[in-house]
Amino acid sequence: MELALYCPEYGYYEKERDSVGRGGDFHTSVSVGALFGELLAARFADWLDTIRTGGVSASTTEGENNGRLFLVEAGAHRGDLALDILNWFKRERPDLLSELTYVILEPSPARQKFQAGRLGEFASCVTWCSGLDPGSVRGVIFSNELLDAMPLSRARWDAGRREWREMGVAFDGETFQWELMPGAVAMPIPLPEPLLAVLPDGFTTEWSTAATEWWNRSARALKCGWLVTFDYGLEWEDLFDPCRSNGTIRTYHRHRLGDTPLAHPGECDLTAHVNFSEIRRVGEEAALVTDYYGRQGAFLAGIAGLAGKGTGETPVWTDQQLRQLRTLLHPVGFGDSFRVLAQRRA
Ligand SMILES: C[S@@+](CC[C@H](N)C(=O)[O-])C[C@H]1O[C@@H](n2cnc3c(N)ncnc32)[C@H](O)[C@@H]1O
Repeated sequence: MELALYCPEYGYYEKERDSVGRGGDFHTSVSVGALFGELLAARFADWLDTIRTGGVSASTTEGENNGRLFLVEAGAHRGDLALDILNWFKRERPDLLSELTYVILEPSPARQKFQAGRLGEFASCVTWCSGLDPGSVRGVIFSNELLDAMPLSRARWDAGRREWREMGVAFDGETFQWELMPGAVAMPIPLPEPLLAVLPDGFTTEWSTAATEWWNRSARALKCGWLVTFDYGLEWEDLFDPCRSNGTIRTYHRHRLGDTPLAHPGECDLTAHVNFSEIRRVGEEAALVTDYYGRQGAFLAGIAGLAGKGTGETPVWTDQQLRQLRTLLHPVGFGDSFRVLAQRRA
């Protein structure tokens, strides 16, 4: 997965062509239109106000960045979400924008270049980095469809031996194939005995140590504020439902869903469901408090419902915004299968 997506020469995400949106391989909440970014911006502005007024306190040891507010986006891809958010701040909250640094966490130099081109208008408040120092962020660290795109391990249950066998990738000079690695592999969190007793032989699953490590590092980077992610995923017990006996790895090519991830490396998106139980646990272990875990539709509806509150005015929505809102809230689309995890360092 790592090479197919991130190899500097052939990796799927290293290419400039549009992979997201109608002309690409898959849609995201961002490619639905500007409304997703506008709703997030409204929520983030609320959170930043809370931090500014001391509702979420910074530590007593004053760091050099203590007065500055940060929005840190990871997995910014083409920079579309950044643009929607920054445009909203420019229009609605110029006071906050002047106190804000928008940081894009982007390890790929090629992607940094594409994003810089897209965000030229906001050059004075956008910066890039490839990692965050512990305790360096006062603000919000967020991502949309980042964790599902991280490298993962895949394993198959051997019911006779009662052990997991890791699945490696072999190359015969022409094609790639799954191949069982020698010896047993330990899962990061062992499954309960009653579940293992009934798990059928050959049940296949996957886990992403990269995703949990990323969440742990981001949690530790947060001095005060929120860590939030939007993605499709499940809790651990749902990942072992009989209907997922082949795991959740999928490919997307030209909006077609596929289940042969080794067939066209570098030419299609590869993704797997996020294990939200694990991510949540890692954040709580790093002393974050879970503010929200649930369906994306409900989270966004909560923000949309706030529009106009306090002014006594009914919010005015354009037809285009209403169409986008319907898509974002629709149970079959982004509303139900996408989840939001928002954790806070108080
Ligand atoms: C599915 S795309 C997300 C698209 C975008 N956020 C959107 O909503 O349209 C995943 C992105 O995450 C990036 N990515 C993967 N690992 C990353 C990491 N460790 N840090 C930052 N970005 C990463 C990939 O390069 C890719 O641009």
